[in-house]
Amino acid sequence: MKKYLAGLSAVALLCCSIASSAFARMEEKLTNIAHRGASAYAPENTMAAFHQALEMNADYIELDVQQSKDGVLVIMHDRTVDRTTNGSGHVRELTYAELQRLDAGSWKDDSFTNEKIPTLSQVLDEFQGKIGILIELKAPELYPGIEKKVAFEINKRKLDHVIVQSFNVSSMKKMHELLPNVPIGILTSSERDANRNSIQQFAAFATYFNPSYDILTPALIHQVHSAGMKISPWSGTKRLPASFLWKTKSDGVITNYPDEVNWLQTSTKIGKTIHASSASHTARLVGVKR
Ligand code: G3P
Ligand code: CA
Repeated sequence: MKKYLAGLSAVALLCCSIASSAFARMEEKLTNIAHRGASAYAPENTMAAFHQALEMNADYIELDVQQSKDGVLVIMHDRTVDRTTNGSGHVRELTYAELQRLDAGSWKDDSFTNEKIPTLSQVLDEFQGKIGILIELKAPELYPGIEKKVAFEINKRKLDHVIVQSFNVSSMKKMHELLPNVPIGILTSSERDANRNSIQQFAAFATYFNPSYDILTPALIHQVHSAGMKISPWSGTKRLPASFLWKTKSDGVITNYPDEVNWLQTSTKIGKTIHASSASHTARLVGVKR
């Protein structure tokens, strides 16, 4: 019995020390951005994934905007519909009517059968005022003039809590000219962009420098902050690197698992007792081998 109690105390102590070291910045909440919606749980870039993110109390949904053959702004990550629908072909070569006929859900799970490819308008109408919206212009070089169309949608609704980002730097400069009051983000997965000179050039028009988690270092975070920008790395399918992000002072995380980010933040913030069943989960998230 004594041995059992000693074991329990050790688990409790481990949890407390993990919590206090990993969440030294708890008062500064990490912005929790649901990557393509809560895409670990629902088909990416669909209304189901965005609703799931809202239910999980994410701060923002992230989505990818492209354009149909007939000029409708649609939400889709890949250049083709092949991976995430039951159809095939390039997004830009299919009309909106053709895109609408596709099933964008059942590739993930049968329970999502007949989930549709949403339009940007539908998402903005449904989620404005309920959650922040991080709009990525995906491959804007394929869609000349897409910046003006996105700016129009944002202006029309006088949107607050919206950020526009892209890997395409000149597109984001254009976006900043069109929408000087909307924060702009630069995305990169290349270390070539992660140097002082480039970051300072981005800072002339962008508020965020959002790199892949793979190239994230404490030095990069420092450089971004020194240039007066914020940094929200994306971790994609990787499980939560939140402890690292907190320790290294990132401002946010773009994650497929917004529930896990909130679980960590809430459970420590309100001092909820971390019970034994959660201990291994917590330890896994903060990278402690048990
Ligand atoms: O928001 C960052 C992230 O979405 C960029 O990568 O390929 O998932 O659009 P990707
Ligand atoms: Ca994206």
